Amino acid sequence: MIRLEGITKEYFMGDVVVQALNGIDVEIQRGEFVSIMGPSGSGKSTLLNVIGVLDQPTRGAYYLEGVDITQLKDRELARIRNQHFGFIFQAYNLFPELTAMENVMVPLMYAGKPKRERRERAEELLNMVAMGHRLGHLPTQLSGGEQQRVAIARALANNPTLLLADEPTGNLASDQGAEIMNILCQLNAQGTTIVIVTHDPSISAYGKRLLRLRDGKIVADEQVKEAALEA
Ligand SMILES: Nc1ncnc2c1ncn2[C@@H]1O[C@H](COP(=O)(O)OP(=O)(O)OP(=O)(O)O)[C@@H](O)[C@H]1O
Ligand SMILES: [Mg+2]
Repeated sequence: MIRLEGITKEYFMGDVVVQALNGIDVEIQRGEFVSIMGPSGSGKSTLLNVIGVLDQPTRGAYYLEGVDITQLKDRELARIRNQHFGFIFQAYNLFPELTAMENVMVPLMYAGKPKRERRERAEELLNMVAMGHRLGHLPTQLSGGEQQRVAIARALANNPTLLLADEPTGNLASDQGAEIMNILCQLNAQGTTIVIVTHDPSISAYGKRLLRLRDGKIVADEQVKEAALEA
């Protein structure tokens, strides 16, 4: 589904060049569940943002379903982002003035769905993440774990083929984190491809494949053993 070839990302800070990604070659197949780990500053979020087309690489090729998308215009990239990707962030990033229901309806509005369909789909998704009893709550009226479940429902609104999550359990207590990971595992079992960034080995153990980053390079690419799950 995704192939990155020789991807680099440089940030220019005055005279200083920050090399955030330094030659990334990786393929991600449909249906995979990939965890990305590595020290702070190793490029995990940058890589996730490049994969999710939130950020453009400095050099290299990015093939999505065989098409190099690095040459596309912003408008086409935005369309690809909306059609293919769902995002979950550590800080949930819900719209603070909108209810749970309205938050999930936003991407459906951008996709041009009629109001009735938006309502039905939003309610269905919130039921799926066990938030059907909190449709009218604002983010400030929800716990962290509940906010993240709403964020997952919102990320799934347009049936993304790939769900990208940057430290989705980073602000949560371990039982709430496990709940979030169980939802992601269920989604993966139903066919959604998942890529997650985490610091926490107990979180990466939910994945099937682990990429380790260091200084903007992939230094290990391994299958996660079942034993790690039991430990
Ligand atoms: N917008 C930016 N401008 C300049 N430098 C940046 C920018 N974003 C990231 N960097 C630098 O690029 C490198 C990689 O950053 P990135 O956020 O990908 O790291 P990370 O692995 O996600 O770290 P953390 O675990 O702390 O979230 C870091 O050295 C960071 O300082
Ligand atoms: Mg990060």
